Amino acid sequence: MSLIRKIKDYYKRNKEQECTLFTTPSHAQGCFIPQKAADLLGEKFYKCDFSEIDGFDNLRDPKGILKNIQTKLTKIYDTKQTFMLTNGSTSGIIAALISAIKPSDKVLIARNCHISVFNALVITGAKPIWFLPKYDSEWDVFEGVKVKDIQKEITLNPDIKALIITSPTYEGIHSDIENISKLCKKHNIKLIVDEAHGALLNFYDLNQKPAIKLGADISIQSLHKTAGAPNPCALMHISKKSDITQSNVQDALNLINTTSPSYPLILAIEATTDYLASMNGKNNIKKLISYITELKNSLKDKLLFYENNSDSTKLLVKFKNVSPKKASGILNRKFLIEEEFTNKKALLFITGIGTDKRKINKLKSALSDIATNYKSNNNKSNQTIEYSSVTIPKSKLTPKEAYYRKRKTIPKELSKGKICSRPILNYPPGIPLIISGEVFNDEIISMIEDSTVEICE
Ligand SMILES: Cc1ncc(COP(=O)(O)O)c(C=O)c1O
Repeated sequence: MSLIRKIKDYYKRNKEQECTLFTTPSHAQGCFIPQKAADLLGEKFYKCDFSEIDGFDNLRDPKGILKNIQTKLTKIYDTKQTFMLTNGSTSGIIAALISAIKPSDKVLIARNCHISVFNALVITGAKPIWFLPKYDSEWDVFEGVKVKDIQKEITLNPDIKALIITSPTYEGIHSDIENISKLCKKHNIKLIVDEAHGALLNFYDLNQKPAIKLGADISIQSLHKTAGAPNPCALMHISKKSDITQSNVQDALNLINTTSPSYPLILAIEATTDYLASMNGKNNIKKLISYITELKNSLKDKLLFYENNSDSTKLLVKFKNVSPKKASGILNRKFLIEEEFTNKKALLFITGIGTDKRKINKLKSALSDIATNYKSNNNKSNQTIEYSSVTIPKSKLTPKEAYYRKRKTIPKELSKGKICSRPILNYPPGIPLIISGEVFNDEIISMIEDSTVEICE
């Protein structure tokens, strides 16, 4: 039985014979709702919010309806096991590293990974070996990871135990997972793919198969980013071919997750994945892609779109004569359109299951208006962080060691040669300039916007 059916049945039965709960949550299925919350959320949210009462199972050790949903997901995604996450891909990424390695193992990591990977390093005590994927300065984005990006590191560090990469990236760019996974297998390295932005890959051809089908051991997908679920619904998959076990991952999830998972979110995960796997879901994605293709075709003479091995739901757009910053201001103020992110060269629009034709048309007219009627005096950005020229700072401590050192705040000008205590990142997309345990150098100091930094004493 599904959770959705179970909740409906509960209320049907309750009409006939009232069941009185003396359990958490203490709003008691909506007997108490602060008016301000009721006005915005309505009572249905509260009515679906249960604890693990009789028959409602337990996400830490699922044996009943929650197990049924995960078994259904395991079939849909064709995995050894798929886990529901009500604490985002962040929790899945941390649990993936906990389950794939032992403390102080070496982990190879693409530097453009999300902050959750750095948090996982603090929690596990793993020793990071960094590499920078190729940087495309024309678009201010990192390209996908290729085998040659990691080959050298694997030769230099034959004891690497896991590799973590982000694919698709925040901007939708895919990595060569298939060949990377072959190399990982050869060297007995676990491949973890942060697929937070790729939750639609299993349901429609978006220029890449899902990582789990291409040889990854574990992948993690945020259902809230593109697949239409509320924040922070996500999934974690273990490949049928991986030797990571279901209990390895369940134990790791239990270490870091709440003991009170949100039932409204579990319900949303079930409803969203049922929908994605249905014909309606597939048709919805197909329609979305056709709207985007139409937008690109009609604006191709006025704008540039990033097309290099990327996910078709992401729109990374460059104006020929208007700076991204100026275009962003016009979009926000004149058209009340907010983009996901503006980098030094382009604007990023994230679309997904909830992006309908009306929205795409509104974006199309706004982009066309800006391209036709505006011009920047100087379209060159005055401050471009050229990651290609950045060397990853030297490391003196592991992120965990640095985390537990005493820290102090000092002016950034005095930080050269000192050990960083807390990561400094550009957010979004959350890629760090320097992380805990690394040593400040002139180049990094010149890129830090704040006047102070935190160092290890
Ligand atoms: C690449 C990437 N990975 C992981 C995450 C974390 O996902 P969640 O918000 O589902 O925890 C994000 C969120 O921005 C992300 O961009």
